[in-house]
Amino acid sequence: MKTLNIGMIGYGFMGRTHSNAYSQVNHFFDLEYKPILKAVCARNEERVKAFAEQWGYESYETDWRKLIARDDIDAIDICTPNNLHKEIAIAAAEAGKMILCEKPLARTADEGEEMCQAIEKAGVLNTVWYNYRRVPAVTLAKQLVDDGRLGRIFHYRANFLQDWTISADLPQGGEALWRLDAEAAGSGVTGDLLAHCIDTAVWINGPISSVTAMTETFIKERTHTLTGEVTKVDIDDACSFLARFANGSTAIFEATRYARGHKALNTLEINGEKASLSWDLHDLHRLQVFDHSDESIIRGWHNVHVSDGDQPYMKNWWVPGLQIGYEHTFIHHVADFLAGVAKGESASPTFREAQETQIICDAVLESAKSGQWVNIPS
Ligand SMILES: NC(=O)c1ccc[n+]([C@@H]2O[C@H](COP(=O)([O-])OP(=O)(O)OC[C@H]3O[C@@H](n4cnc5c(N)ncnc54)[C@H](O)[C@@H]3O)[C@@H](O)[C@H]2O)c1
Repeated sequence: MKTLNIGMIGYGFMGRTHSNAYSQVNHFFDLEYKPILKAVCARNEERVKAFAEQWGYESYETDWRKLIARDDIDAIDICTPNNLHKEIAIAAAEAGKMILCEKPLARTADEGEEMCQAIEKAGVLNTVWYNYRRVPAVTLAKQLVDDGRLGRIFHYRANFLQDWTISADLPQGGEALWRLDAEAAGSGVTGDLLAHCIDTAVWINGPISSVTAMTETFIKERTHTLTGEVTKVDIDDACSFLARFANGSTAIFEATRYARGHKALNTLEINGEKASLSWDLHDLHRLQVFDHSDESIIRGWHNVHVSDGDQPYMKNWWVPGLQIGYEHTFIHHVADFLAGVAKGESASPTFREAQETQIICDAVLESAKSGQWVNIPS
């Protein structure tokens, strides 16, 4: 079996999901390549060493530039806050490394464009970890739409609701709280949560042609973890937007971190002429399907338990009826990336595909400022 030496930067939430995926993937997928946990990198030596030991990395680094310079690293996995994605990705591309970058691709579309140009110039394989595409029920939704089972699409609806920033005492910036700091994150819920919804929507329903948005920052000032000073909050705490797709369908998207009671309510619904689909992350293995061609006496919403071998990715797991979970979406992503490496192809979404989401996020934030509809260049 061929090996692919991974150098992962950042060992937080995503560093754990990715490390798990690299460790598990060859147990369940027949692949030409096996990822090797060659090195993990983070700034704190004691903690990165402990992480390397716990997860089975062969070595560690405390400076990401040293990791990229190593000859024994084939692929750089970027699991850092968003403000570091561009610098690391461009350096990795220039060093000829493959790149797996966490989402959002960047803080802005301008940064994303620079990254796309760097990887295209270097010709390195790449992917961006929009993992919700690889929930089997979501992949199945895409297949049903592609097969024409819904007919003409009229509506797309998506939510991503959380409640973890309601307290005014929560500081902004630093470890775990960099998402509240616009300098580190780029934006608030738009780049963090809606980017996921947009990626899935565009993948399933095609390009978005225009948007009009509203954002709100409910807590205007917070203590900054790094300086101890009370400073203005520049992220969007909540964002709602309307969109038109190029195929003529209309959409409504909403994300917030102020929906008391919701921890990660990520949902989508698609209404077509012949059928509708609905999915909810809290019940991630189920796809709700309404098919108008069903005989009228049994017509209704069908609850499809996506666990059978002929449903996406499921033949690699247990037996029909037994479900999988969140962490498996990352294993699916690694499996697809490694299958692509064997063919010399990048796994979708590539940097260029993820840049489309970045452009839409920028348009959403621009519209929220101007109060106008913003067209998305095709
Ligand atoms: N795909 C998803 O569903 C998903 C979910 C959560 C986060 N993310 C994305 O993943 C990325 C990381 O998020 P997270 O939740 O894992 O964050 P986190 O705060 O848990 O981890 C960030 C890691 O980056 C490291 N880091 C920070 N600066 C560094 C530097 N200069 N050099 C080396 N390491 C450095 C930190 O030590 C930490 O280990 C973000 O881009 C985020 O948007 C994606």
